[in-house]
Amino acid sequence: MTQDEMKQAVAQEALNYVVKDTIIGVGTGSTANFFIDSLATIKDEIKGAVASSVATADRLKSYGIKVYDLNEVDEISVYIDGADESDKNFNLIKGGGGALTREKIVAAVSKQFVCIADESKIVKTLGEFDLPVEVIPMASNYVKNKIISTIGGSPSVRKNFVTDNGNLILDIKGLKIHNPKSTEKTLDSIVGTVTNGLFANRCADIVLLGTESGVKRL
Ligand code: A5P
Repeated sequence: MTQDEMKQAVAQEALNYVVKDTIIGVGTGSTANFFIDSLATIKDEIKGAVASSVATADRLKSYGIKVYDLNEVDEISVYIDGADESDKNFNLIKGGGGALTREKIVAAVSKQFVCIADESKIVKTLGEFDLPVEVIPMASNYVKNKIISTIGGSPSVRKNFVTDNGNLILDIKGLKIHNPKSTEKTLDSIVGTVTNGLFANRCADIVLLGTESGVKRL
């Protein structure tokens, strides 16, 4: 099975977690795109969706799925999104696609967070994947130096990339994140940081994993 086939299988399985007649949250990335393609087949069973990026909103709309602004919505039944890494406690690194801030907001509003990933995303210790941090552009150098002096690693500005919110991304290389909850909070406390790609204080509730031997629920 190819990696894309595993992503597709897990995206299809996630349809079982869609709550009928509600508004759901939809993530960003290649696995989330497979999910949107599957969701299109049952689009009449939901009221609509809140998107975690402009790209996701565009894909949902292309299938005729109603996209709600988050400020119009009081409750999201379930948020379905991929991840760049997950540990065994469902702490995640996200933001490889740069949509981490909107993803974290939609995850915060959602009753349940179902993470969909292929088996390559499971790690023992988070940090092999560069940890993204969204920063206000004028603060990027300050935040970079603060990261080095507080948690270490080697942050650098992602080249030729601006987020949907008009900000920059610092990608931090070389971390071994043994305490994701506290690292998430430490990064959040640096002035000029919008958010960081650790999803630990609001981690996934369920991880669906695409493997060679089929989809597993962790
Ligand atoms: C987007 O910003 C990310 O958080 C994605 O959810 C994550 O990078 C997973 O992407 P893939 O499904 O493309 O691996």
